Amino acid sequence: MKITDRSDLWWKTAIVYCLDVETYMDWNDDGCGDFEGLAHRLDHLAELGVTVIWLMPFQPTPDRDDGYDITDFTGVDPRLGALTDIAEFTRTARDRGMRVIIDFVMNHTSDRHPWFKSARRSLDAPYRDYYVWRDAPPKKQAQTVFPGEEDSVWELDERTGQYYLHSFYRHQPDLNIANPAVRDEIATTMGYWLELGISGFRVDAVPFLIEPPEGVDIGDPHELLRDLRRFLQRRSSEAVLLGEVNLPYEQQLDFFGKQGDPPELTMQFDFLGMQALYLSLAREDARPLAEMLAARPQLEPEAQWANFVRNHDELTLDKLSDAEREEVFDAFAPEDWMRVYGRGIVRRLPTMLDGDPRRIRMVYSLLFSLPGTPVLFYGEEIGMGENPEQQGRMSVRTPMQWTGEPNGGFSRAPTRRLRAQPPSDGYAPEHVNVEAQMHDPESLLGFIRSLTRRYRSSPEIGWGVLDVLPSGQDAVLAHRITADVGRFVALHNFAPTPTIVSLDLGPVAPDSQLSDLFRVDRFDLDEQGRIDVHLDAYGYAWFRVVEPGDRRLT
Ligand code: NOJ
Repeated sequence: MKITDRSDLWWKTAIVYCLDVETYMDWNDDGCGDFEGLAHRLDHLAELGVTVIWLMPFQPTPDRDDGYDITDFTGVDPRLGALTDIAEFTRTARDRGMRVIIDFVMNHTSDRHPWFKSARRSLDAPYRDYYVWRDAPPKKQAQTVFPGEEDSVWELDERTGQYYLHSFYRHQPDLNIANPAVRDEIATTMGYWLELGISGFRVDAVPFLIEPPEGVDIGDPHELLRDLRRFLQRRSSEAVLLGEVNLPYEQQLDFFGKQGDPPELTMQFDFLGMQALYLSLAREDARPLAEMLAARPQLEPEAQWANFVRNHDELTLDKLSDAEREEVFDAFAPEDWMRVYGRGIVRRLPTMLDGDPRRIRMVYSLLFSLPGTPVLFYGEEIGMGENPEQQGRMSVRTPMQWTGEPNGGFSRAPTRRLRAQPPSDGYAPEHVNVEAQMHDPESLLGFIRSLTRRYRSSPEIGWGVLDVLPSGQDAVLAHRITADVGRFVALHNFAPTPTIVSLDLGPVAPDSQLSDLFRVDRFDLDEQGRIDVHLDAYGYAWFRVVEPGDRRLT
């Protein structure tokens, strides 16, 4: 494959960084982050090695689901800025080598969206059919996504006497995708943002989005995604769809597009791998993750897995068995406040790992070494913790911690005016902030920067085919990624004890070596590709197989 082909498919080796403008940087000191503040922090993102900024919803909203309840799909929340700011911001980001993708939340609207306000006026209101109505909730109801906060996915609209569907909160009525006018709205909204310089979309709640209303035949619901992808690619050859699909791998494959069918999503988050990672961490045993990775399907060259350790929602464990979930809860969420919806954890990684820098680094090393595209949630690069005083999922959505000053340098407004406040414990801004780490190569920030550099100079990680290798030890994950650009091998030790791993890579060219990608060491391999490697407690190592005559710099 030529290098030009490779860079056309830029998302294969991207580094995605998710942030909420509202909590990133407040430049006008009203207590709410804004686009101007974010623009002032582009240097931080560029230096970190980010290549794609994923903006969480920034459209006008009553903010009852942190912006995932939108009242105008083509607007900007005036607290954050204006449309001109988006155009300027995407342009400036691109100038710094970063693309921008945005959350695309069109499964539902806010109940204050003008469409819904109109729809609920009467049974024959013009926008009535934009939503899903029934005289009575169906007998067989889908379960609510938010147990404890909602008890049904149908809500009675008093005025018209019918029930409307809401897969999420009752203030988020589902749009009716069986209505062609709604499908047009979805496509034109995408087209609109592309014109403003956006390079793609993180598509919210995809399985809910394409699910037709019960009893309505729309043919194959995946046709909606195929159509959207076709539309997207006609408008922009470089734009991507990164989908939120938390389903078993087999079903995820359908969302990439079945073999022989036109493509659907470009990328999907690996929710299963993420959950297996936490089980492995809890057990100090790499096997759950190794088994999950071995089962993870190899994708078509254009498609990609998006790997993550933590996102903005609860850390969901819904795909683990009940017993496995309990193990992870016991290890990382022993107190009630740490758990939510019976399935998830509301903490960030460093607090779950008791701040142990060895384990934290091992996890991020793993994130950047897994085949696919790594996705960071803001604050992970400096090891931010959560604020237990913020309810539920809001605990991890606290302001970015820039300095040790009040409000972590996020805003000079009085702290009480902030929507979410930084933690006041050992993870408070005075202990964890960008400024304290940015010139220290030994800091977590320095470490993550070295990972992003190494990831970017190792395209085989994004492009290659994965093998999980026998490591001879339950606690050690050994994996190899093979691509036309090279062979990469990584080791990760989930246990608190140092160890020696006997690697067996299979036959290699005579005089091949293993080059350590972090320690500028080279080790000779025998012709069977065997070598013993020392690993520290919770240690990690990245290698490249170097054959005589190899012209790559390592
Ligand atoms: C998924 C988002 O990640 C979550 O934060 C939100 O509450 C739901 N979709 C509803 O939009």
